[in-house]
Amino acid sequence: VTKEWLRVAVIGAGAMGTIHARHLASSVPGARLAAIADVDASRAAALAEECEASRIETDAGAIFADPSIEAVVVASPPNTHGALIERAAAAGKHVFCEKPVDSDPDMTDRALAAASRAGIKLQIGFNRRFDPTFRAVHSAIEAGRLGRPLLLHLFSRDPRPTAVSSTRAIAGLFLDMTIHDFDMARFLMQSEVTQVYALAGTMMENCGEPDTAIVTLRFTSGAIATIDNAHTAYGYDQRVEVFGTDGCIATENEQPDRARLVHADGRIDALPLYFFGERYLASYLAELRAFVHCIQNDGEPAVTGQDGRAAAKVAAAAQRSYETGQPVRMSEIG
Ligand SMILES: NC(=O)c1ccc[n+]([C@@H]2O[C@H](COP(=O)([O-])OP(=O)(O)OC[C@H]3O[C@@H](n4cnc5c(N)ncnc54)[C@H](O)[C@@H]3O)[C@@H](O)[C@H]2O)c1
Repeated sequence: VTKEWLRVAVIGAGAMGTIHARHLASSVPGARLAAIADVDASRAAALAEECEASRIETDAGAIFADPSIEAVVVASPPNTHGALIERAAAAGKHVFCEKPVDSDPDMTDRALAAASRAGIKLQIGFNRRFDPTFRAVHSAIEAGRLGRPLLLHLFSRDPRPTAVSSTRAIAGLFLDMTIHDFDMARFLMQSEVTQVYALAGTMMENCGEPDTAIVTLRFTSGAIATIDNAHTAYGYDQRVEVFGTDGCIATENEQPDRARLVHADGRIDALPLYFFGERYLASYLAELRAFVHCIQNDGEPAVTGQDGRAAAKVAAAAQRSYETGQPVRMSEIG
């Protein structure tokens, strides 16, 4: 019996493309890393060498033209995603696309329409849904352990950067960073957002505008939420608490070790894992495995293009609320 490998190409050999290519090269059952494309040939070549990929391209077109490649991982900048999804769909390739679907709302709609017309699988990179800790919170809510969820608090703080990242410069705080929290809020509360109020400011150097925010959400279910975004001096601060009629569930940060020193100055333990590449590594692997599994079993992607669109619309409402200083109803967002 010949084993049918799913041949997958990675488009964009930056921070996220590197994580996805490493996983495809070694740890995703049924899949093979077929090629790496980046407009920067030296980046593509370096990643191809590390992952022992035999092929590099500077134009994704060559990948779309190759019938032996069945799926692509899009990990290029946010303003390139929609066009790449459209081209992949036209060529009949399945797409795993990093968040956001695109930085432009019209392009997002066009990409989703193209994917659905072509009948390809499109999965969006909301990896936190695959994180074991967030999954445990989701399971407890699903099992009814909290009764009716009433309040959600998401703490989502990045380590302080030394410069504005290129993706932040393109998408802004709400579409680049808070979008993960908007998705997590929809995922945990199992309800759609109806109203958004964002207070934010430029409070740090080197983070871009705005860099610090509290966003409040109201859901169709009546539940309400706060999202707290900032940039820390102590690493990646990723916590959640959900309070319901029958109980409350809360999480703690993951640490590189669990040793705790007690001495005359107090109790000391390790800082949180530093950033996404450490904290969410398991979830990046799990989301790619789910993507490949859904292609091979003709299932529904675990995170759909519509999930990507819905979170982006909440981000647009947050942006408008920040700019106007007023709460924004989701019905006001086109
Ligand atoms: N899920 C997460 O936790 C997470 C974390 C970081 C970034 N991201 C997302 O991943 C995507 C990539 O971000 P990054 O931090 O890896 O960016 P990056 O700048 O590190 O890498 C982007 C790469 O894409 C290449 N590129 C640019 N235009 C291209 C094109 N048209 N075709 C092919 N390659 C092109 C660049 O040369 C660069 O190597 C963004 O959408 C970002 O929002 C997600």
